[in-house]
Amino acid sequence: MTDAFALADHLRAAGQDHLLAGIQDLPADQRTAFLDRLAAVDWQELATPLVPPPLGVLKSSRVVDPAERIERRAALTAAGEAAYRAGRTAVLMVAGGQGTRLGSSAPKGCFQVAKHSGKSIYQLQAEKVLSLSRRVGRAVPFLVMTSPATDAETREFFAVNGDFGLAPGQVRFFSQGTVPSLAADGKGLLAAPGRLLENPDGHGGCFTALVASGQLARLRAEGVAWIVYIQVDNILAPVDDAVLVGLGEQESAEVVTKVLAKAHPDEKVGHLVRVDGRDHIIEYTEVTPEQTRAVGPDGQVILRWGSPAMLLWSVGFLGRLADAGYRPPLHRSAKPLKAWRDGQTVELKGWKSERFIFDMVTEAEASIGLAIDRSIEFAPVKNASGDDSPASAVAIASTMYADWLRAAGVRVELPPGATIEISPLFAATREQFLARWDHRTVAVTGDYYLEDDRPIA
Ligand code: UTP
Repeated sequence: MTDAFALADHLRAAGQDHLLAGIQDLPADQRTAFLDRLAAVDWQELATPLVPPPLGVLKSSRVVDPAERIERRAALTAAGEAAYRAGRTAVLMVAGGQGTRLGSSAPKGCFQVAKHSGKSIYQLQAEKVLSLSRRVGRAVPFLVMTSPATDAETREFFAVNGDFGLAPGQVRFFSQGTVPSLAADGKGLLAAPGRLLENPDGHGGCFTALVASGQLARLRAEGVAWIVYIQVDNILAPVDDAVLVGLGEQESAEVVTKVLAKAHPDEKVGHLVRVDGRDHIIEYTEVTPEQTRAVGPDGQVILRWGSPAMLLWSVGFLGRLADAGYRPPLHRSAKPLKAWRDGQTVELKGWKSERFIFDMVTEAEASIGLAIDRSIEFAPVKNASGDDSPASAVAIASTMYADWLRAAGVRVELPPGATIEISPLFAATREQFLARWDHRTVAVTGDYYLEDDRPIA
């Protein structure tokens, strides 16, 4: 139990003792829980968020570009395939975000995104893992990171849907931590009497949560060497990617960062770039317009590779970071907040602090980029409408499926508004589609949906 006097001194020193006002009015069990939480927060870390240091000379990172990818494809695929089949690969999906921009109160993964089947984002992601597991003949571990904001609903959603056909125990849920949101003056806030206002600690919180939950130790004990990291809101993020895993194997990489050629120099993405001998993913907000356009000795724009937040992590590397007590730093950003003040909920401007997965790239000595084709791997759902919305993601996926059909010799002429959906259980990649396509139709001229129609063995 927390020593209230020691805690009061500690909070006073941190400038947070206002949080103790009124605690004597709380029921005893609530007061104990509140004091325990106040004692567990690292107020010192919160008060000193990372201010990105001035960057040194920016150089190009080593990136396997499309030409090299084609050249090495067979060898990379063979290496990655062997890793999947030997049980050396797991999939990790982070789904702890609050999804504020999408505006749905349920976790983003519960959103019914698919137009024809009505499948949710969670179902699409789970079916990709199921498809992979069937293909490689083993239940590939599927780690799903939730947060207190999404945990209960996510578990319930998977449970009522029979884990979308995945094997019992294949889905491994773990919840990330939270950090207090702060008022503009850096003071902690309440969400309700006796409850701190907190937010999930960012996608980088997946590292600390992997460690704290024991999931990382379990993967190490099982001999899993690679984690394919995706974010729930990219409906096309591949999990069956032997080239990616094979690159990790062949390069003995600690991290492989997928990158895409930026659509234009000012595209608002993080950039993979080398600074002082280490790869960094630096935000567009951290670079000047001059740096954005600077050309390297090879005649190419240095900041030409954008990061869509898909990575491959070496479990050995994460284990070494864990053993060294590493945790990704906190970054602060100004956000509108709803806090409990003077007996009511008020809206105010304050700070949310988050850990970024990208900071872990900088910890790696063996880091490499892998260029991907955005049209087949990147369909994010961030906003309710417009760019990066459910509608735009469905349209991107539909265009990809149309290409698959055309590659199989099908005439595709879609009227405006019509879309194609292909279940990950029918085919999760173009290769699988071409291998499976049975020429059931010669033309697609309107809405079209393909589900797995094999009899269950
Ligand atoms: P975003 O930064 O886009 O945030 O997260 P979000 O919560 O989904 O949406 P907004 O910003 O509130 O509208 C990118 C990915 O990182 C995950 C999200 O679930 C999403 O897959 N994430 C983000 C976490 O898992 N935890 C976090 O604390 C933050």
